[in-house]
Amino acid sequence: MKKIILLLMVLFSSVIYAQENVKIALTPPMGWNSWNKFGCDVDENMIKEMADAMVNSGMKDAGYEYIVIDDCWQVSRDSLGNIIADTERFPSGIKALADYVHSKGLKFGIYSDAGMKTCQGRPGSRGYEYQDARTYAGWGVDYLKYDWCNHSTQNAKASYSLMKNAIVKSGRPIVFSICEWGTNKPWLWGKEAGGNLWRTTGDILNCWDCTTDWGGMGWIKILDLQNGLESYAGPGHWNDPDMLEVGNGGLNDTECIAHFSLWCMLAAPLMAGNDLRDMSESITEILTNKEVIAIDQDVLGKQGYKIRDDGDFEVWYKPMESENIAICFLNRSTNAKEINIDWNSLDIKNNYKIRDLWKKKDVGTTNEKFSGTIEPHGVILLKLTN
Ligand code: GLA
Repeated sequence: MKKIILLLMVLFSSVIYAQENVKIALTPPMGWNSWNKFGCDVDENMIKEMADAMVNSGMKDAGYEYIVIDDCWQVSRDSLGNIIADTERFPSGIKALADYVHSKGLKFGIYSDAGMKTCQGRPGSRGYEYQDARTYAGWGVDYLKYDWCNHSTQNAKASYSLMKNAIVKSGRPIVFSICEWGTNKPWLWGKEAGGNLWRTTGDILNCWDCTTDWGGMGWIKILDLQNGLESYAGPGHWNDPDMLEVGNGGLNDTECIAHFSLWCMLAAPLMAGNDLRDMSESITEILTNKEVIAIDQDVLGKQGYKIRDDGDFEVWYKPMESENIAICFLNRSTNAKEINIDWNSLDIKNNYKIRDLWKKKDVGTTNEKFSGTIEPHGVILLKLTN
Protein backbone atom coordinates (compact mmCIF):
# COMPACT_ATOMS: atom_id res chain seq x y z
CA MET A 1 0.00 0.00 0.00
CA LYS A 2 2.77 2.38 1.02
CA LYS A 3 4.52 1.70 -2.29
CA ILE A 4 1.37 2.51 -4.27
CA ILE A 5 0.89 5.78 -2.41
CA LEU A 6 4.54 6.65 -3.04
CA LEU A 7 4.19 5.83 -6.72
CA LEU A 8 1.06 7.97 -7.00
CA MET A 9 2.86 10.85 -5.28
CA VAL A 10 5.76 10.62 -7.71
CA LEU A 11 3.39 10.49 -10.70
CA PHE A 12 1.36 13.43 -9.40
CA SER A 13 4.38 15.61 -8.75
CA SER A 14 5.80 14.85 -12.20
CA VAL A 15 2.53 16.02 -13.79
CA ILE A 16 2.75 19.25 -11.81
CA TYR A 17 6.42 19.57 -12.71
CA ALA A 18 5.61 19.09 -16.39
CA GLN A 19 2.92 21.79 -16.19
CA GLU A 20 5.28 24.22 -14.56
CA ASN A 21 7.72 23.70 -17.36
CA VAL A 22 5.34 24.06 -20.25
CA LYS A 23 6.94 26.63 -22.50
CA ILE A 24 4.42 29.26 -23.47
CA ALA A 25 4.67 32.78 -24.83
CA LEU A 26 8.18 32.18 -26.16
CA THR A 27 7.47 35.10 -28.46
CA PRO A 28 5.24 38.03 -27.37
CA PRO A 29 1.56 36.94 -27.32
CA MET A 30 -0.58 38.26 -30.17
CA GLY A 31 -4.33 38.60 -30.15
CA TRP A 32 -7.27 40.88 -29.51
CA ASN A 33 -8.79 42.22 -26.28
CA SER A 34 -12.21 43.82 -25.84
CA TRP A 35 -11.33 46.62 -23.41
CA ASN A 36 -9.90 49.50 -25.47
CA LYS A 37 -12.84 49.68 -27.84
CA PHE A 38 -15.78 48.14 -26.03
CA GLY A 39 -15.17 48.58 -22.27
CA CYS A 40 -18.00 46.80 -20.44
CA ASP A 41 -20.11 46.42 -23.58
CA VAL A 42 -19.19 42.77 -24.23
CA ASP A 43 -21.42 39.87 -25.25
CA GLU A 44 -21.04 36.48 -26.86
CA ASN A 45 -22.17 37.47 -30.34
CA MET A 46 -19.69 40.30 -30.54
CA ILE A 47 -16.87 38.05 -29.30
CA LYS A 48 -17.78 35.37 -31.86
CA GLU A 49 -17.87 37.95 -34.63
CA MET A 50 -14.46 39.17 -33.53
CA ALA A 51 -13.10 35.62 -33.79
CA ASP A 52 -14.60 35.36 -37.30
CA ALA A 53 -13.09 38.72 -38.23
CA MET A 54 -9.69 37.73 -36.90
CA VAL A 55 -9.70 34.87 -39.38
CA ASN A 56 -11.33 36.72 -42.31
CA SER A 57 -9.22 39.88 -42.07
CA GLY A 58 -5.97 37.91 -42.38
CA MET A 59 -4.99 38.64 -38.79
CA LYS A 60 -4.90 34.98 -37.81
CA ASP A 61 -2.67 34.37 -40.80
CA ALA A 62 -0.39 37.16 -39.64
CA GLY A 63 0.03 35.47 -36.23
CA TYR A 64 -2.76 36.82 -34.00
CA GLU A 65 -4.07 34.04 -31.82
CA TYR A 66 -5.84 35.02 -28.59
CA ILE A 67 -9.37 36.41 -28.31
CA VAL A 68 -9.57 37.88 -24.80
CA ILE A 69 -12.70 39.12 -23.02
CA ASP A 70 -11.70 41.82 -20.56
CA ASP A 71 -13.72 43.03 -17.57
CA CYS A 72 -17.52 42.74 -17.15
CA TRP A 73 -18.26 39.18 -18.32
CA GLN A 74 -18.80 38.08 -14.70
CA VAL A 75 -21.64 39.10 -12.37
CA SER A 76 -21.64 37.04 -9.16
CA ARG A 77 -20.82 33.76 -7.45
CA ASP A 78 -23.18 30.88 -6.72
CA SER A 79 -23.71 29.41 -3.25
CA LEU A 80 -20.63 27.22 -3.77
CA GLY A 81 -18.49 30.17 -4.74
CA ASN A 82 -18.35 29.36 -8.46
CA ILE A 83 -18.00 32.41 -10.66
CA ILE A 84 -21.12 33.19 -12.70
CA ALA A 85 -21.03 34.83 -16.13
CA ASP A 86 -23.65 37.41 -17.15
CA THR A 87 -26.39 35.14 -18.55
CA GLU A 88 -28.02 37.93 -20.53
CA ARG A 89 -24.85 38.78 -22.40
CA PHE A 90 -23.41 35.25 -22.48
CA PRO A 91 -26.53 33.03 -22.62
CA SER A 92 -24.63 30.04 -24.03
CA GLY A 93 -22.03 30.21 -21.28
CA ILE A 94 -18.31 30.81 -21.41
CA LYS A 95 -17.39 27.20 -22.23
CA ALA A 96 -19.47 27.29 -25.43
CA LEU A 97 -17.82 30.59 -26.38
CA ALA A 98 -14.35 29.16 -25.78
CA ASP A 99 -15.31 26.14 -27.90
CA TYR A 100 -16.38 28.47 -30.71
CA VAL A 101 -13.11 30.41 -30.56
CA HIS A 102 -11.16 27.14 -30.57
CA SER A 103 -13.18 25.89 -33.56
CA LYS A 104 -11.70 28.82 -35.51
CA GLY A 105 -8.19 27.65 -34.70
CA LEU A 106 -7.77 30.49 -32.17
CA LYS A 107 -7.20 30.59 -28.41
CA PHE A 108 -9.45 32.01 -25.74
CA GLY A 109 -8.67 34.41 -22.91
CA ILE A 110 -10.48 35.87 -19.96
CA TYR A 111 -9.99 38.51 -17.26
CA SER A 112 -10.08 38.59 -13.47
CA ASP A 113 -8.57 40.57 -10.63
CA ALA A 114 -6.31 39.76 -7.67
CA GLY A 115 -8.50 41.80 -5.31
CA MET A 116 -12.04 41.38 -3.99
CA LYS A 117 -13.51 43.16 -7.00
CA THR A 118 -12.44 43.94 -10.54
CA CYS A 119 -11.91 47.52 -11.70
CA GLN A 120 -15.55 47.62 -12.81
CA GLY A 121 -16.80 46.25 -9.48
CA ARG A 122 -17.37 42.66 -10.64
CA PRO A 123 -16.31 39.75 -8.40
CA GLY A 124 -12.52 39.43 -8.16
CA SER A 125 -10.64 36.20 -7.51
CA ARG A 126 -9.30 36.94 -4.03
CA GLY A 127 -9.99 33.87 -1.86
CA TYR A 128 -11.21 31.93 -4.91
CA GLU A 129 -7.95 31.59 -6.80
CA TYR A 130 -7.86 27.78 -7.00
CA GLN A 131 -11.58 27.49 -7.65
CA ASP A 132 -11.47 30.08 -10.43
CA ALA A 133 -8.39 28.60 -12.07
CA ARG A 134 -10.11 25.18 -12.05
CA THR A 135 -13.21 26.74 -13.62
CA TYR A 136 -11.18 28.52 -16.30
CA ALA A 137 -9.29 25.31 -17.14
CA GLY A 138 -12.63 23.47 -17.40
CA TRP A 139 -13.89 26.12 -19.82
CA GLY A 140 -10.78 25.83 -21.97
CA VAL A 141 -9.26 29.20 -21.11
CA ASP A 142 -5.78 29.70 -22.62
CA TYR A 143 -4.95 33.21 -21.35
CA LEU A 144 -5.73 35.03 -18.12
CA LYS A 145 -5.34 38.78 -17.70
CA TYR A 146 -5.19 39.38 -13.95
CA ASP A 147 -5.82 42.94 -12.76
CA TRP A 148 -4.92 44.81 -9.58
CA CYS A 149 -7.98 46.85 -8.54
CA ASN A 150 -9.36 46.69 -4.99
CA HIS A 151 -6.32 44.86 -3.67
CA SER A 152 -6.39 46.63 -0.29
CA THR A 153 -3.12 45.78 1.49
CA GLN A 154 -2.31 42.66 -0.54
CA ASN A 155 1.29 42.05 -1.50
CA ALA A 156 1.58 42.12 -5.29
CA LYS A 157 4.17 39.41 -5.83
CA ALA A 158 2.42 37.05 -3.38
CA SER A 159 -1.01 37.68 -4.93
CA TYR A 160 0.21 36.99 -8.45
CA SER A 161 2.26 33.95 -7.37
CA LEU A 162 -0.84 32.54 -5.70
CA MET A 163 -2.87 32.74 -8.89
CA LYS A 164 0.01 31.32 -10.89
CA ASN A 165 0.15 28.30 -8.54
CA ALA A 166 -3.59 27.89 -8.96
CA ILE A 167 -3.18 27.91 -12.74
CA VAL A 168 -0.40 25.33 -12.56
CA LYS A 169 -2.53 23.11 -10.31
CA SER A 170 -5.42 23.43 -12.77
CA GLY A 171 -3.32 21.39 -15.17
CA ARG A 172 -3.90 23.64 -18.21
CA PRO A 173 -1.20 25.78 -19.79
CA ILE A 174 -2.62 29.31 -19.50
CA VAL A 175 -0.70 32.44 -20.46
CA PHE A 176 -0.57 34.57 -17.31
CA SER A 177 -0.86 38.29 -17.96
CA ILE A 178 -0.03 40.39 -14.90
CA CYS A 179 -1.89 43.71 -15.03
CA GLU A 180 -0.46 45.66 -12.11
CA TRP A 181 0.22 48.92 -13.99
CA GLY A 182 3.88 49.05 -13.00
CA THR A 183 3.04 50.26 -9.49
CA ASN A 184 5.26 47.71 -7.72
CA LYS A 185 7.82 47.42 -10.54
CA PRO A 186 6.60 44.01 -11.75
CA TRP A 187 9.58 43.73 -14.10
CA LEU A 188 11.61 42.97 -10.95
CA TRP A 189 9.43 40.05 -9.76
CA GLY A 190 6.94 39.22 -12.53
CA LYS A 191 8.99 36.38 -13.98
CA GLU A 192 9.46 34.76 -10.58
CA ALA A 193 5.74 35.12 -9.89
CA GLY A 194 5.09 33.12 -13.06
CA GLY A 195 3.97 35.99 -15.27
CA ASN A 196 4.35 35.61 -19.03
CA LEU A 197 3.82 39.35 -19.41
CA TRP A 198 3.32 42.27 -17.07
CA ARG A 199 1.93 45.72 -17.66
CA THR A 200 4.54 48.40 -17.02
CA THR A 201 2.27 51.47 -16.85
CA GLY A 202 -1.24 52.77 -16.35
CA ASP A 203 -3.81 52.35 -19.11
CA ILE A 204 -3.14 53.36 -22.69
CA LEU A 205 -5.49 56.00 -24.09
CA ASN A 206 -6.74 56.53 -27.61
CA CYS A 207 -4.47 59.52 -28.38
CA TRP A 208 -0.87 60.53 -29.13
CA ASP A 209 0.22 62.02 -25.78
CA CYS A 210 -2.83 62.89 -23.67
CA THR A 211 -2.96 61.98 -19.97
CA THR A 212 -5.62 61.61 -17.28
CA ASP A 213 -5.39 62.19 -13.54
CA TRP A 214 -6.02 58.45 -12.90
CA GLY A 215 -2.83 57.50 -14.74
CA GLY A 216 -4.05 56.86 -18.30
CA MET A 217 -1.80 58.11 -21.09
CA GLY A 218 -1.26 58.18 -24.85
CA TRP A 219 1.12 55.65 -26.42
CA ILE A 220 4.08 58.04 -26.78
CA LYS A 221 4.04 58.72 -23.02
CA ILE A 222 4.02 54.96 -22.44
CA LEU A 223 6.94 54.58 -24.86
CA ASP A 224 9.01 57.00 -22.77
CA LEU A 225 8.53 54.74 -19.73
CA GLN A 226 9.77 51.57 -21.49
CA ASN A 227 13.36 52.59 -22.12
CA GLY A 228 15.57 50.94 -19.50
CA LEU A 229 13.27 47.97 -18.96
CA GLU A 230 14.76 46.00 -21.84
CA SER A 231 16.88 43.68 -19.70
CA TYR A 232 13.77 42.27 -17.98
CA ALA A 233 12.09 40.94 -21.13
CA GLY A 234 12.80 37.66 -22.86
CA PRO A 235 11.20 34.50 -24.21
CA GLY A 236 8.29 33.54 -21.94
CA HIS A 237 8.28 36.79 -19.94
CA TRP A 238 7.61 40.17 -21.54
CA ASN A 239 7.18 43.79 -20.54
CA ASP A 240 3.66 44.80 -21.58
CA PRO A 241 3.20 48.47 -22.57
CA ASP A 242 -0.57 47.75 -22.91
CA MET A 243 -2.88 46.89 -25.77
CA LEU A 244 -2.86 48.60 -29.14
CA GLU A 245 -4.93 51.67 -30.01
CA VAL A 246 -4.36 51.15 -33.74
CA GLY A 247 -7.65 51.63 -35.59
CA ASN A 248 -9.57 53.26 -32.74
CA GLY A 249 -9.73 56.68 -34.39
CA GLY A 250 -7.63 58.75 -31.98
CA LEU A 251 -4.50 58.37 -34.12
CA ASN A 252 -4.17 59.03 -37.84
CA ASP A 253 -2.66 56.32 -40.06
CA THR A 254 0.88 57.72 -39.76
CA GLU A 255 0.56 57.76 -35.97
CA CYS A 256 -0.85 54.23 -35.99
CA ILE A 257 2.18 53.10 -38.00
CA ALA A 258 4.48 54.77 -35.46
CA HIS A 259 2.65 53.21 -32.48
CA PHE A 260 2.65 49.75 -34.08
CA SER A 261 6.31 49.99 -35.15
CA LEU A 262 7.49 50.99 -31.71
CA TRP A 263 5.46 48.23 -30.04
CA CYS A 264 7.22 45.78 -32.38
CA MET A 265 10.60 47.33 -31.53
CA LEU A 266 9.77 46.78 -27.85
CA ALA A 267 8.92 43.09 -28.39
CA ALA A 268 5.59 44.06 -26.87
CA PRO A 269 2.61 41.72 -26.74
CA LEU A 270 0.50 42.69 -29.77
CA MET A 271 -3.08 42.75 -28.53
CA ALA A 272 -5.26 44.60 -31.02
CA GLY A 273 -7.84 46.77 -29.28
CA ASN A 274 -10.04 47.87 -32.18
CA ASP A 275 -13.19 46.57 -33.87
CA LEU A 276 -11.84 43.91 -36.21
CA ARG A 277 -15.21 43.68 -38.00
CA ASP A 278 -14.92 47.17 -39.28
CA MET A 279 -11.36 48.03 -40.25
CA SER A 280 -10.24 50.33 -43.05
CA GLU A 281 -7.86 48.83 -45.58
CA SER A 282 -5.00 50.89 -44.20
CA ILE A 283 -5.58 49.72 -40.62
CA THR A 284 -5.77 46.08 -41.76
CA GLU A 285 -2.50 46.60 -43.63
CA ILE A 286 -0.83 48.06 -40.57
CA LEU A 287 -1.95 45.29 -38.23
CA THR A 288 -1.06 42.51 -40.67
CA ASN A 289 2.30 43.74 -42.01
CA LYS A 290 4.17 40.46 -41.63
CA GLU A 291 7.66 41.91 -42.01
CA VAL A 292 6.95 44.38 -39.21
CA ILE A 293 5.39 41.70 -37.02
CA ALA A 294 8.51 39.58 -37.58
CA ILE A 295 10.50 42.28 -35.75
CA ASP A 296 8.24 41.82 -32.73
CA GLN A 297 8.24 38.04 -32.94
CA ASP A 298 11.97 37.58 -33.50
CA VAL A 299 13.05 34.41 -31.66
CA LEU A 300 15.93 36.09 -29.88
CA GLY A 301 13.28 37.87 -27.82
CA LYS A 302 15.24 41.09 -27.23
CA GLN A 303 13.38 44.25 -26.35
CA GLY A 304 14.57 47.26 -28.33
CA TYR A 305 15.92 50.45 -26.74
CA LYS A 306 16.70 54.03 -27.58
CA ILE A 307 20.23 54.72 -28.85
CA ARG A 308 19.81 58.36 -29.80
CA ASP A 309 17.61 61.11 -28.44
CA ASP A 310 17.67 64.51 -30.15
CA GLY A 311 14.43 65.71 -28.59
CA ASP A 312 11.92 65.32 -31.37
CA PHE A 313 14.08 62.81 -33.24
CA GLU A 314 14.85 59.41 -31.74
CA VAL A 315 16.59 56.26 -32.93
CA TRP A 316 15.52 52.88 -31.52
CA TYR A 317 17.59 49.70 -31.86
CA LYS A 318 16.53 46.06 -31.56
CA PRO A 319 19.02 43.20 -31.77
CA MET A 320 17.66 40.29 -33.80
CA GLU A 321 18.67 36.72 -34.48
CA SER A 322 21.67 36.03 -36.75
CA GLU A 323 23.06 39.39 -35.65
CA ASN A 324 20.53 41.26 -37.71
CA ILE A 325 19.17 44.56 -36.38
CA ALA A 326 15.92 46.50 -36.50
CA ILE A 327 16.22 50.28 -36.50
CA CYS A 328 13.35 52.70 -36.03
CA PHE A 329 13.68 56.44 -36.69
CA LEU A 330 10.92 58.31 -34.86
CA ASN A 331 9.86 61.88 -35.57
CA ARG A 332 7.88 63.15 -32.57
CA SER A 333 7.40 66.61 -34.00
CA THR A 334 4.45 67.88 -36.02
CA ASN A 335 6.75 68.85 -38.91
CA ALA A 336 8.31 66.53 -41.46
CA LYS A 337 11.93 65.68 -40.69
CA GLU A 338 14.72 65.21 -43.24
CA ILE A 339 17.38 62.77 -42.13
CA ASN A 340 20.81 61.94 -43.48
CA ILE A 341 22.29 59.32 -41.21
CA ASP A 342 25.88 58.19 -41.14
CA TRP A 343 25.66 54.64 -39.77
CA ASN A 344 29.02 55.01 -38.04
CA SER A 345 27.49 57.70 -35.86
CA LEU A 346 25.10 55.00 -34.58
CA ASP A 347 28.00 52.61 -34.05
CA ILE A 348 26.78 50.37 -36.85
CA LYS A 349 29.97 49.33 -38.56
CA ASN A 350 29.31 46.11 -40.50
CA ASN A 351 27.97 46.32 -43.99
CA TYR A 352 24.27 45.44 -43.73
CA LYS A 353 21.62 45.30 -46.41
CA ILE A 354 18.78 47.67 -45.57
CA ARG A 355 15.09 47.01 -46.08
CA ASP A 356 12.35 49.58 -45.44
CA LEU A 357 9.57 47.52 -43.86
CA TRP A 358 6.69 49.93 -44.53
CA LYS A 359 7.74 50.71 -48.10
CA LYS A 360 8.47 46.97 -48.49
CA LYS A 361 11.58 47.85 -50.47
CA ASP A 362 15.32 47.17 -50.29
CA VAL A 363 16.98 50.55 -49.94
CA GLY A 364 20.77 50.07 -50.15
CA THR A 365 23.40 49.21 -47.60
CA THR A 366 24.97 50.70 -44.49
CA ASN A 367 28.07 51.51 -46.54
CA GLU A 368 26.29 54.65 -47.64
CA LYS A 369 24.54 57.35 -45.64
CA PHE A 370 20.81 56.83 -45.23
CA SER A 371 18.60 59.72 -46.19
CA GLY A 372 14.86 60.09 -46.13
CA THR A 373 11.92 62.15 -44.92
CA ILE A 374 9.96 61.14 -41.85
CA GLU A 375 6.38 62.33 -41.78
CA PRO A 376 5.13 64.35 -38.78
CA HIS A 377 4.54 61.87 -35.92
CA GLY A 378 5.92 59.19 -38.23
CA VAL A 379 8.63 56.57 -38.37
CA ILE A 380 10.96 54.90 -40.79
CA LEU A 381 11.38 51.25 -39.81
CA LEU A 382 14.36 49.37 -41.20
CA LYS A 383 15.67 45.86 -40.99
CA LEU A 384 19.43 45.55 -41.35
CA THR A 385 20.49 42.12 -42.55
CA ASN A 386 23.99 40.69 -42.53
C1 GLA B 1 -7.78 48.31 -15.67
C2 GLA B 1 -6.82 47.70 -16.69
C3 GLA B 1 -7.43 47.83 -18.08
C4 GLA B 1 -8.79 47.14 -18.12
C5 GLA B 1 -9.70 47.70 -17.03
C6 GLA B 1 -10.98 46.89 -16.90
O1 GLA B 1 -7.90 49.68 -15.83
O2 GLA B 1 -5.57 48.31 -16.64
O3 GLA B 1 -6.58 47.31 -19.06
O4 GLA B 1 -8.59 45.76 -17.93
O5 GLA B 1 -9.06 47.70 -15.77
O6 GLA B 1 -11.79 47.34 -15.88
